[in-house]
Amino acid sequence: MKPASNPCTIGWQSRWLRILLIVPISLIVLMAASVMPAIAASAAATSDAVYQQRTPSRDGIGKFYLDREIAEVMGHLGAGWLERPSRDREEQPQKLLAALDLKPTDAVADIGAGTGYFSFRISPLVPQGKVFAVDIQPEMLEMLTAIQQAKQAFNVEPVLGSATNPNLADASIDLALMVDAYHEFDYPREMMQAIVRALKPNGRVVLVEYRGENPLVLIKGLHKMTQRQVRKEMAAVGLTWLETKHVLPQQHILIFGRERT
Ligand SMILES: C[S@@+](CC[C@H](N)C(=O)[O-])C[C@H]1O[C@@H](n2cnc3c(N)ncnc32)[C@H](O)[C@@H]1O
Repeated sequence: MKPASNPCTIGWQSRWLRILLIVPISLIVLMAASVMPAIAASAAATSDAVYQQRTPSRDGIGKFYLDREIAEVMGHLGAGWLERPSRDREEQPQKLLAALDLKPTDAVADIGAGTGYFSFRISPLVPQGKVFAVDIQPEMLEMLTAIQQAKQAFNVEPVLGSATNPNLADASIDLALMVDAYHEFDYPREMMQAIVRALKPNGRVVLVEYRGENPLVLIKGLHKMTQRQVRKEMAAVGLTWLETKHVLPQQHILIFGRERT
């Protein structure tokens, strides 16, 4: 007589079936378990390698890029300061405009345009060209658009950018200008990489920053930059330093071009 089968044991066919299924599944789980930490570690290493988070100082966000703490963004409530009557005398913008060597057909991106203080001064210098006035604060762009309508400056196009992207088409601009803005970028590496993509082959990048080397320039520390730091950060995205112009009373004008291949 055939003995009754024990319900606590499994027959040999299903045992083999389980072994056949369990072995490869276990191998996959083991491999995933060994690879996942490596993937996670490499992702963390990549972001750690670019930015580091530390205790924020008074005017900073506590995020460091190439040994520099990134400054807080100047909010739209500070727009009045950008349009202050004394600015022309203090900063002498005509000297910067002359230093830009613009052609009438140039497409210029004024990145971190604020109220458009520079966008509207550049606009008449590029009558057959264009000014893309990029900012991340919609309130700034609202003010800029109101001024644009009042001035009928139709070659100025307001562009809402994001913290990582100025939203400019590839190979579309002759000049990317950042006046007193770059030190506030939350993601300087990503922003600059996108700006480099937006440059035409002979396009230039111009940074205007208050002189970090000079303690007599009475601007908060994180809102100033040294030449050395600017050049280090531009080199990190493949830009070549061409020239520094020393024509402004308080600010550096640093000019960069795309690296020749
Ligand atoms: C101190 S204001 C300077 C405005 C203008 N360039 C001027 O000189 O009058 C800096 C501006 O940069 C803008 N900004 C900060 N981060 C930005 C980013 N990632 N992309 C575009 N604009 C940015 C801020 O919203 C602010 O309007």
